[in-house]
Amino acid sequence: MIKRIGVLTSGGDCSGLNAAIRAITLRAIQQYGWEVVGILRGTCGLIRRPMEYIPLTLAMSDQSMLRAAGTILGSTTKENPFYFPSEGGAKIDRSDDVVDGYHSLNLDAIIAIGGDGSMRINSKLAKKSGVNMVCIPKTIDNDLAQTELSIGYSTAVAVATEALDRLHPTAASHDRVMVLEVMGRDAGHIALSAGIAGGADVILIPEIPYSLDSICNHIKKIKSQGRNYSLIIVSEAVKTQTESSVLRGTSYNERPRYGGISQYLCEELEERIHADTRSTILGHVQRGEQPNVQDRILATTFGVRAVDMIAEKDFGKMVVWRNNQIESVPIDATIDTYNGVDPKGILVKTAKAMGIYVGEL
Ligand code: F6P
Repeated sequence: MIKRIGVLTSGGDCSGLNAAIRAITLRAIQQYGWEVVGILRGTCGLIRRPMEYIPLTLAMSDQSMLRAAGTILGSTTKENPFYFPSEGGAKIDRSDDVVDGYHSLNLDAIIAIGGDGSMRINSKLAKKSGVNMVCIPKTIDNDLAQTELSIGYSTAVAVATEALDRLHPTAASHDRVMVLEVMGRDAGHIALSAGIAGGADVILIPEIPYSLDSICNHIKKIKSQGRNYSLIIVSEAVKTQTESSVLRGTSYNERPRYGGISQYLCEELEERIHADTRSTILGHVQRGEQPNVQDRILATTFGVRAVDMIAEKDFGKMVVWRNNQIESVPIDATIDTYNGVDPKGILVKTAKAMGIYVGEL
């Protein structure tokens, strides 16, 4: 019999996490009378001694949780329990401590809200004896396999669109080419959607190769038609013409830290067509906005369903959004592939139909 469940958030934060935590808490307490415990800083809260957790109550799950970005539980991107940094610096397997923590807290199940890196960890944890787990997808990148939407993506697209809206008047005032760099890692969803919504002239995404000559010709054509400025949106993992990624700082967890492809493009355009260019790297602004309506609804729907799956003892699964319905898939099914932009999909076709340069197909 289920009496007490845990909730944790792991991986990069995004808008809508608190809305999901609220939905889980309300559904678990109101419908089933369970106790709900919030584990702090992802699985770290179960590894550390004393364990780090807070009770999640009806009183705290008010409307402000729908609006608040970030996660009240905290998160981690660096502390993989299977490869956990020890005091001496060596990486050691602390996954048994997660299981011990789960049992010491008398948890009957846990809801883990995370992205692709977290799902790889969760799929292994869910196989450890006695850990009943249900997962919820979140990532601004929208690259988690099996689900059409993840929490946080819609708000990130809205932020990137608003950035283009704001770059437009200043580009027009100064006859400039403005290059906006957005997040998304290997998936170009944010750039593609925001580029269409914000009226970009050029959209560059990792899934589609591009040519600098074609971009220059496109900008010259726009100019010959009487418009002296252009807007370019580029996804952070787009490579240079010599096929190298533009990185900054050190990588961690085998993940590169992207940043700077927009500046590369500016320099190339200045050299090739003497354009007056400026680059903007939007960065973590895309993660800290108040969640929009779509993310609040998605987070609430996922939260309710995840709790109901625990009641049905349907463990080892991740909830997914498909065709306006909620379904669930085994966690394992989400980890070996990723959800990139379909170069032949409707959004790429629409962008091209609008005269936007989206690369060479
Ligand atoms: O995966 C989400 C994401 O925001 C990526 O779009 C971005 O490349 C990365 O995380 C940034 O990570 P960090 O917060 O560690 O700098």
